[in-house]
Amino acid sequence: MCGIIGRVGRDEAIDSLLTGLENLEYRGYDSAGIAVQNGAGINVEKQSGKVSSLTDSIDRNDLAGRLGIGHTRWSTHGPPTDENAHPHTDSTRDVAVVHNGIIENYAEIRSRLQRAGYEFTSQTDTEVVPHLIQRNLDRGVEAETAFRRAIDELEGSYAIAAICDGEDELYAARQGSPLVVGIEGDGYFLASDVPAFLEYTDTVVYLEDGDFVTLRSNGVRITDRDGNPVRRDRHTVDWDAEEAGKGEFDHYMLKEITEQPTSLAQSIEGRYDPHTGSVTLDDLETFEGISRVLLVACGTSYHAAQYGTIALRRSGVAADAILANEFSLAAPPIDEETLVIAVTQSGETADTLTAVRQAADRGAKTLSVTNVVGSSAARETDQQLFIRAGPEIGVAATKTFSSQAVLLTLLSHRIATDTTGSSSLPIGQLCVELEQLPALVETLIEASDARSIARRYRDQESYFFIGRGFGYPVASEGALKFKEITYEHAEGFASGELKHGPLALVTPETPVFTVFTGEEDETTLANAAEATTRGAPVIAICPDGHDAIQTADAHLAIPDVNPLLSGILATIQLQLVSYHAAALLDREIDKPRNLAKSVTVE
Ligand code: G6P
Repeated sequence: MCGIIGRVGRDEAIDSLLTGLENLEYRGYDSAGIAVQNGAGINVEKQSGKVSSLTDSIDRNDLAGRLGIGHTRWSTHGPPTDENAHPHTDSTRDVAVVHNGIIENYAEIRSRLQRAGYEFTSQTDTEVVPHLIQRNLDRGVEAETAFRRAIDELEGSYAIAAICDGEDELYAARQGSPLVVGIEGDGYFLASDVPAFLEYTDTVVYLEDGDFVTLRSNGVRITDRDGNPVRRDRHTVDWDAEEAGKGEFDHYMLKEITEQPTSLAQSIEGRYDPHTGSVTLDDLETFEGISRVLLVACGTSYHAAQYGTIALRRSGVAADAILANEFSLAAPPIDEETLVIAVTQSGETADTLTAVRQAADRGAKTLSVTNVVGSSAARETDQQLFIRAGPEIGVAATKTFSSQAVLLTLLSHRIATDTTGSSSLPIGQLCVELEQLPALVETLIEASDARSIARRYRDQESYFFIGRGFGYPVASEGALKFKEITYEHAEGFASGELKHGPLALVTPETPVFTVFTGEEDETTLANAAEATTRGAPVIAICPDGHDAIQTADAHLAIPDVNPLLSGILATIQLQLVSYHAAALLDREIDKPRNLAKSVTVE
């Protein structure tokens, strides 16, 4: 949902700005732009399309300067045209601004400024900001105050950075959209996310809502809305640039799928005792007193939340998963005995943050299950469980799903034990199998037939995914992944629901990927047969030797483990199918059209 980058240092800014934009492109890739200030005016280059087009078309000499800002856009207000690309400037180009978020009162500000004679050239909400700053400069106030006063007029969510002609400072403010400062020996970075500048520094300061920051090549000053200094701790991030890079892989997505033996090992390491079956999960406080759990999430994280919900119910805990964007209108009753778990890879999804804030207002205890230390979700919830999956850059989430699902399963056991004194999960068997999980995943990936299956079933009308129990969120996730990156029509259903409507769409051109988790497999098999009877090819995701293989058209093998884990393993096969299908179709796998990895607007 838009990435912003800023750089102020003793060397030329252009290279680190372009690198930052490339690293942030997972947040949006509708258009890209850069503005650099060198004491003789502000030069802006921006255009619709990807960062690589910008990089190829610009003349770096025109963008000389040690102070600059950049932006990669995921469009909200106004289509992805050159005019709507950021940075936006005032008419005299004295001010340039980049923005991530939504300015809710922009229409009112825009008409006010237009009446005062300010001319607008874009359809964006952002363009009001440079004009507001310019109006303050016109009134004779100095640049930093002009910036502050402009920000004071805004309602909505934003991370905004601005530069002004003749000033060797970069100004920024955060309210509801992420912003982090990177500290390097020779200067400072400002960005929506750490990978933007990880090649240059791993020392960061996470800004909070309400923070204003002024960066110069020799210092950083953070203040609150009233201008009072605020102290923010420095952190050293433990991801390195290589980890965040693509390595020998063609796509981040394949790299991240292949990393799952490691990411899962990291997620579970030290969090349970295989000998005693106790689940420690860091130093999470007791959940005693909780009578109901509500998981809020979006996209892939919602499917992990559904997975966790089943695990919680199996453990003996009342639980529900709700789409975060439905929370305000459809949440069940919430009180002090409710635990609301925000499941969010990035920790920045606006829908999820809003839901968790509303829950906290109603007295709920809150916990985030997230991959990003220092994210808004981590900072705003009472407790945090970090999934430790490592950086995930591909827009289609893969390794973070498996880490979320496995940790929510462990968490279920812990919550049940804390709240009821016991848990119905087969924790002994689970712990033994968790020890083997990374090796099982490695073998599954090496031996997977997903590529040939993707080739065999290319060019079909529609792709269905079905499963029951843990297999249902897995089927939903399989379909989501498939549609996200292949652009083919795909739907996920509970297997038992096939006959209640979707069967009307089943034809010989509708491959049905059927997930068997080892629970009620005979019924799932009967559901798959309903599709076979209508001529649809069935691809069974099940262990070798399973009955389903006899009637299925094709087979993707998963190890024969507890259903709590077999769903996770089935997901990995489906991730590989989607990846290979998209590769055969030559899709933009890491940057699917119209999507962004982190959606920071509601
Ligand atoms: C976006 C991404 C999805 C992701 C969802 C939730 O829509 O494209 O891949 O699952 O956001 O993201 P979160 O960071 O909250 O897990």
